[in-house]
Amino acid sequence: MIELLQVSKSFAGRGETVHALQATDLSIPKGKVYGLLGFSGAGKSTLLRLINRLEEPTTGIVRIAGQDLTGLSQADLRQARQQVGMIFQQFNLLSSRTALENVAFSLEIAGLPAAQRQSRARDALSSVGLSDKEQAYPAQLSGGQKQRVAIARALATAPKILLCDEATSALDPHTALSILRLLKQLNQERGMTMVMVTHDIKVANYLCEHAVILEKGKVVDRIDMSQPSPQSLLGKFFFETAKGWTDQTVLPQEDA
Ligand SMILES: Nc1ncnc2c1ncn2[C@@H]1O[C@H](COP(=O)(O)OP(=O)(O)O)[C@@H](O)[C@H]1O
Ligand SMILES: [Mg+2]
Repeated sequence: MIELLQVSKSFAGRGETVHALQATDLSIPKGKVYGLLGFSGAGKSTLLRLINRLEEPTTGIVRIAGQDLTGLSQADLRQARQQVGMIFQQFNLLSSRTALENVAFSLEIAGLPAAQRQSRARDALSSVGLSDKEQAYPAQLSGGQKQRVAIARALATAPKILLCDEATSALDPHTALSILRLLKQLNQERGMTMVMVTHDIKVANYLCEHAVILEKGKVVDRIDMSQPSPQSLLGKFFFETAKGWTDQTVLPQEDA
């Protein structure tokens, strides 16, 4: 469903170039949930944004469902992007629009005729358990409810892939788990392929079948979450912290 072949992404800065992602191969089959683990600055968000073409790769190929999105016209790219939904740590809702309007707006962007937007948006809100909040503004909603609206917005175009960038990092543990449960249910019921960017091993433990560990723009570990045996220092650190920190926990970076 998602294929990256030798993908790299560099950002030209003032004087120095940042190599956010280096020669990365990744293949994610349909219906699977993959975790992208790493510390801040590792390149996780960049990798995610390459999948829906919010970023163009510097080198390499990105394919979605067998289709290379490079060189598509704006119209075709908009069409292709509808296969990919995305949610964020800070929800990114429009504060001046109600929950229903936020979801309907994404359908407007997607080019759906006005007559269909309302009912599609209602269905999407209903599928995340928020039918009673259609007329609420983001400021009137809790963090968990805001993320549910964002999920409904992502679901409204019936994507095959859902990209989640630290989607539960701003939520308390109770709310985070309720959102993860919803995501698991969506994966199971709709067979949606998911990519979860996180720095929290608990998220990967709960939801992901595979995880890759990113460090300074490189994949340093590939882990089968049903039988985790991390090889890298960073991978071992993540799994150590799942058990809780001790004085013996080895920090992967001296300067962390
Ligand atoms: N648009 C950009 N312009 C310049 N540098 C960027 C840009 N986006 C990301 N970077 C840099 O790329 C590296 C990886 O960033 P990012 O993918 O956001 O990491 P993560 O999500 O793992 O925290 C960082 O050094 C970051 O500063
Ligand atoms: Mg990030």
